[in-house]
Amino acid sequence: MKGILLAGGSGTRLHPMTLAASKQLLPVYDKPMVYYPLSTLMLAGITEIMVISTPDDLPQFKRLLGDGSKFGIRFAYAVQPKPDGIAQAFLIARDWLAGDACALALGDNLIHADHLSTLMRTAASRPVGASVFAYRVRDPERYGVVAFDESGKAVEIVEKPAAPTSNWAVTGLYFYDKHVNDIAPQIRPSPRGELEITDLNHVYLEMGTLHVEKLSRGCAWLDAGTPDSLLQAATFVQTIQSRTGMLVGSPEEVAFRMGYIDADALRAHARGLGKTDLGRALLELAEGELL
Ligand code: DAU
Repeated sequence: MKGILLAGGSGTRLHPMTLAASKQLLPVYDKPMVYYPLSTLMLAGITEIMVISTPDDLPQFKRLLGDGSKFGIRFAYAVQPKPDGIAQAFLIARDWLAGDACALALGDNLIHADHLSTLMRTAASRPVGASVFAYRVRDPERYGVVAFDESGKAVEIVEKPAAPTSNWAVTGLYFYDKHVNDIAPQIRPSPRGELEITDLNHVYLEMGTLHVEKLSRGCAWLDAGTPDSLLQAATFVQTIQSRTGMLVGSPEEVAFRMGYIDADALRAHARGLGKTDLGRALLELAEGELL
């Protein structure tokens, strides 16, 4: 399975911060925002990832991430000329995907759960269908919303409904089988002119192959698309890291734990980060002190 990290869009809800900078490169506490969804994809066992961003911002992502060898993985890059919708990612990546199954992570989404690795691997290993994650929120009208019947089966999925029929928002992390390559080109623009990811998920729902995993109370899901949610995400990461000593959203850590890089490579990363707390934590991990 390959992965797409979608990091384009205009970030209008974060203006003026995003007038001259990519939203997904803004800091969330001690790391660029894109590190969080990148770490999640890597935890799923995905080692080939296409980063898609705007013509202006893509060079900055290349500068930050390089060819992927520092994380023991491979990056490809592609431009999305205009924000014509999340599902367009599959059309942009079509040749690169070459018919493979694919996961998609939105560059502004942060998921934290102690069993995240198991959740991700389970989704990535399903041979048929699509897997999405639902999270209980107070403001479902801001999201794709999924409703369930009494048996817990997903029966409806709607993008930003004016009158939501449930409180379960669909998070920005999606796993698709190889059929996504045939289904995505059939999606037509919505009334707001976008190729909606919810319409793609709706096709899987109709086929009876949409798996919806409800994220439990112990999980945190944040999207950092507004000043408030950006601050909340930063505070969340700062609190967890300082309280537990564990890192959140470190691709260096995931690369090491997944066996993509060895302890020497991790040490080199740590040194590259100088005297930062993050550098110190990575060094402890390389020395086996951070469990
Ligand atoms: O965060 C989860 C939600 O993300 C889902 O519940 C919704 O179903 C889904 O449509 C999406 O809703 P948003 O309103 O958050 O989408 P937004 O337009 O903010 O885009 C999400 C991210 O994707 C953002 O980081 C920008 C990027 N993006 C978006 C579009 C439409 C692109 O890179 N290209 C695009 O064309």
